[in-house]
Amino acid sequence: MPKPERHVFVCTQARPLGHPRSSCNQHGCAAVFDEFLWQLQQRNLFNRVQVTATGCLGPCSEGPSVLVYPDGVMYGGVSKEDVSELFDRHLQGGEPVERLKVAAEFWG
Ligand code: FES
Repeated sequence: MPKPERHVFVCTQARPLGHPRSSCNQHGCAAVFDEFLWQLQQRNLFNRVQVTATGCLGPCSEGPSVLVYPDGVMYGGVSKEDVSELFDRHLQGGEPVERLKVAAEFWG
């Protein structure tokens, strides 16, 4: 397997309802993760981009959280509708999507 140019980690952490930290699961991360896998397949980028479901990345209140390496960019509040733009502009274009970055207080 070739080393990917970019590795996307999508938080799929769940917590019990009412938990003080909430979770990305409660913010709809499952649809976001599915869309990343769908777009990866449609764009046939298996040799360039890797997508991995992961546990908590930290900024739970800002979820769904998505982390991209090697750039070290943390996105928050990502929706299914944002995934195409993330592929076009960041994963393939190399430019992070500023409007989806979490604030520095969460990842800075
Ligand atoms: S639960 Fe997703 S960042 Fe914490």
